[in-house]
Amino acid sequence: MKRPKPIVEIASTGRWLPDNVVTNQDFEKTLDTSDEWIRERTGIRERRIAPREIGAGYMGVEAAKVAMCRAGIEPGEIDVLICATATPDRLLPSTACAIQAELGATNAAAFDVSAACSGFIYALGVAEGQIAAGRAEIVLVVSAEKMTGITDMSDRSTAVLFGDGAGAVVVRKSTNGRGVLSNYIRSDGTLAELLWRPVGGVVEPMTHEALERRDHMVKMAGREVFKSAVKSMADAADQALLRAGLTGEDVDLFIPHQANIRIIEATAKYAKVPMEKVFVNVDRYGNMSSATIPIALDEAIEQGRVRSGDIILMVAFGAGFTWASSVIRW
Ligand code: UT7
Repeated sequence: MKRPKPIVEIASTGRWLPDNVVTNQDFEKTLDTSDEWIRERTGIRERRIAPREIGAGYMGVEAAKVAMCRAGIEPGEIDVLICATATPDRLLPSTACAIQAELGATNAAAFDVSAACSGFIYALGVAEGQIAAGRAEIVLVVSAEKMTGITDMSDRSTAVLFGDGAGAVVVRKSTNGRGVLSNYIRSDGTLAELLWRPVGGVVEPMTHEALERRDHMVKMAGREVFKSAVKSMADAADQALLRAGLTGEDVDLFIPHQANIRIIEATAKYAKVPMEKVFVNVDRYGNMSSATIPIALDEAIEQGRVRSGDIILMVAFGAGFTWASSVIRW
């Protein structure tokens, strides 16, 4: 297949994580769980939990400031500001608008993308489309998640899985052949009830009874979600590579969504990418939904694991169900 010419590139990255580290041993004190169970089933050792008063908007602003500073852009230069989040500060207006106001990005169109853990790659695709259509030159993509704000901390099947954090990237026109070689997005809404927050929207508004049942918090059929994640991430890896005219052997760095080390290993094996080329930080942060991939990318750059010209494969899966993938030449 002919290699596509990139239209856009990621000019810079940034991240923000709360200081507060909560270990598996901390959960042993409040839940019927163990460090051993959590490590063996998920690969998670600890996660960051933001204080009550900090939301996705705050975290997104901090990550965005780092990315903007590294790209050398001023807030007024941003044409489009997209926030991928499953944990918006408010249901109305968007968290992107809150981030816009705080940054002073007065020339931007700001909106949220709701695609759960796949949100970053969805938002990257939207950014690419805006720039390709000539409607924008600079797009700020922010993935900000306060997952612990929608997690029932008395439910051991979900409480130990999630963490808080934000990542941001500045997207602009491609230079020197570097940038996004493929972007693949898919969803299957028929399986929504396997991973969702049943109550709190307009169809099932909050009631006292629902609040007591904690039906406004994340409910997940873990085993079923696991199976779908493995299957869909394999499809996503295939499609991103196919559309980029590459194979797993061409990949220099694989950045999968960080939900569970067993899902990561299965996807890497399927895509024929050896584990030494896979970026893993699920042990330190848990599942931060859409923020996992941009945070991992930022850490990979900081650790010197990304060189100019490298092929990066990114693959995600989440509620919806949604799944998505992208190949980038760095
Ligand atoms: O990011 C979006 C997508 N999300 C995911 O990709 C998550 C996908 N799912 C998973 O990662 C895994 O399914 C989990 C980590 C959530 C669960 O692991 P599992 O190996 O699928 O366990 P399970 O749900 O089948 O539960 C096995 C046992 C159950 O006990 P019984 O019924 O066998 O007696 C659970 O009650 O483990 C029990 N269990 C726990 N035990 C100790 C569930 N949570 C815990 C816990 N500590 N925290």
